[in-house]
This record gives sequence, C-alpha cells and structure tokens, in this order.
Amino acid sequence: MRLSERAESALESRTLALSARAASLRAQGRDIVSLLEGEPDLPVPAEVLAATEAALRSGRTRYCASAGLPELRAAWASALAAEGIPARPEGVLVTNGAKQALHGVLQTLCGPGDEVVVLAPYWVTFPEAVKLAGARPVVVETRAGELAVDAIGRALSPATRAVIVNSPNNPTGAVYGQDELRALAELAERRDFWIVSDEAYEALTYDGARHLSPAALGARAAGRTVVLRTLSKSFAMTGYRVGCAAGPEPLIRAAARLHGHTTGSVCTFAQCGALAALALGEAHREAWRAAHQERRDLAHALAARLFAVGKPRGGLFLWADARRRFDGRRPDSERFALSLLEDAGVSVVPGSACGREGFLRLSFSQPEAVLREAYRRVESAL
Ligand SMILES: Cc1ncc(COP(=O)(O)O)c(C=O)c1O
Repeated sequence: MRLSERAESALESRTLALSARAASLRAQGRDIVSLLEGEPDLPVPAEVLAATEAALRSGRTRYCASAGLPELRAAWASALAAEGIPARPEGVLVTNGAKQALHGVLQTLCGPGDEVVVLAPYWVTFPEAVKLAGARPVVVETRAGELAVDAIGRALSPATRAVIVNSPNNPTGAVYGQDELRALAELAERRDFWIVSDEAYEALTYDGARHLSPAALGARAAGRTVVLRTLSKSFAMTGYRVGCAAGPEPLIRAAARLHGHTTGSVCTFAQCGALAALALGEAHREAWRAAHQERRDLAHALAARLFAVGKPRGGLFLWADARRRFDGRRPDSERFALSLLEDAGVSVVPGSACGREGFLRLSFSQPEAVLREAYRRVESAL
C-alpha cells in the first residue's frame, strides 16, 4: 500500500503501543499492573460530572463555536490572567486536549525548512508533532530535564522557529524556575523564536514548588510564548479531551482557522464540564497536589530500593536510572520494559521512547495497593 511520506515517517507512539500490548495480555486473562499511563487514577470531580450530565440533558449535544464556548474561553483567560499571564478570551483556542493544541500551534508556526528545538528526555509526541508539521526536530540533550539555555542557544540556527519547553516535565519531573525561564525568554527575543510551553502538568507540583509559565514573565515574554493547557492531568478528565492553546491573538486567530478545518468545535458537553472544572479553584488544586504528592512519596520509596531515582518536583512520573539492572537478557530499556510486561505483568515506558537510553519512566498515579503490588512484582522479576 502506498502511504504518504508523512504517515510512513511518523513513529508509532511507543507508550500507546505498549499500552496496546498490555491490553492484549489482559484480554488473554493476564493480570497487568500499569505504571505506564500519565493518567490520574482519582475520579473526575463530582461537580464536573454533574455539569456534564446537565449539559447532556439540556441538549448541549450540537456543534458549538469552533474556537470553543465563549464562556469557556473567557474562564480560561481569567484563570491564566490570575497567574500573571496576559490573556483575553480571543487569545484562547479550545482544543481536543493539549495534544491537539500542540499540533495546531506547530502547524500554525512552522513548515518545511523550519527547525524546532526539543529538549531530551522528552514526551514521546514532541519530535513527531514537529515532523508532522513538516519541520525538523533539533534535539538538545539535557541532564535531568533541566532547562539548558546555553545548549539551546548553541542549537539555534536561522531556521529555528520555536523551542518546546515542558514544565513540570514529562518524563523527568523537573519544574523550571524563574531565572532559567527568564534566560530562555531573553534568548527568544534576541534570536527571534517562539516558546511553545506545554504546561499539561501545571497543577502537579510538590514540596512547595510552584509552576511558572514563561508567559507570566512580562509582556515581551508573553508576546512570543504560546501556552498549552489541559484538564486531563489536573482533573482526571483525560477522556473529555479538553485543552487549550493561549497566546498572542494573531497567532491564536490563525490557529483557530486551521482548527476550524481540521476538527471544528471540541465536544460541546465536555466543554460544559470543563467550565465546572475551572470553577473549582484553589481547594481542589491543594487536595489534588496533596494526593499526588503522597503517591509520589510512596512510589519513590519503593522504586529507590531497585533503581537510582530522584524525587520529581512535579508531574506524574519517576524517571529511574535502570542501568545497573541491565543484563544479557535485558540489555536496554526497551527490552527491559518488554520483559517487565511479559514476565512480571508490569507495564512501564522505556527511556529510549523519551530519547534517553538507560532509564524507565514509571507513573505513580495509582492507588497505594497497586503501587505496592507493582514494585513487589518488579523486585521479584529482577
Ligand atoms: C507533556 C504532555 N503534554 C500533553 C499531553 C497530552 O495531554 P492531553 O490529554 O490534554 O492531550 C501529555 C499526555 O500525556 C503530556 O505528557
């Protein structure tokens, strides 16, 4: 079959592939414990479910404005403004999750001949999204997900259109601070590129760390930053598929034009649920943070007995150096992950999928009993 070059060159998402393999083992009756997905295990807040149900029952089942419900755009803009990010409703495009926001923004900003800097280790989708936009990903190695502004500077070329940053970071759990973000924003201004700031895990920070967006560093930084947000990780609304891109209005207007032709409006009643989520405010965030910090602490204590692993300051993952556990049968992270799945019934993401060999990405968004069982199995498989 002849396929497009685009389809031929896109790598399958390794997390989705491993997830599919885990699902097929489950279908054969195997009991699989998952440390794979970046998906909170907590329930969707009751207020969100009630608003969604009410929306369904009152007939909000039709198309709505392509760029998003005006009231949701307004609510998101004011939530961002409360963090110091200058945003008006016209500067917010509601998308099918942060993933579609990423694609829409990259398709709007770049094309053939352009380059986009991606920091490794990375979320598996970043390089593929750049390629799908027709541009070339330029991968910059960082030690443990820190924002290596000097290294970014060295990777820039006249073709650079954007740098993708992701804080709190998937997979490393790094949370970028004000100094490094300011240095990046200054570099962006000097060298004329966009900052695409994926803030999917903004609500998940621990030990007093706080998320900071580059767009909150003043008007000049905001003028060249596009913020990507989602309700997937902060409200467990992964299946709702509601996210947004927020940034300078001319850019968002252009992205909205593409969006209108690719998908049109995001599910209307899901947007009504999203509105209820954004209304929940600080009490929800604090409870959410505390619940995930507990999971992180437990997972870290269990994993640190087996691997070299630091405590992440944000996000949903441990980033474990597994090299001392490699052997002839499990010589790299891919085969290590496969053997854990097949032999121990535990699914994890190999570091190689995130652009860094030797590591495993271990999700900690599971209840205590599941985390204990997962690490018991991993330990006995080693
Ligand atoms: C860094 C990052 N950005 C975006 C997403 C996608 O989020 P959404 O469910 O909103 O598409 C993920 C999900 O795994 C992620 O890890």
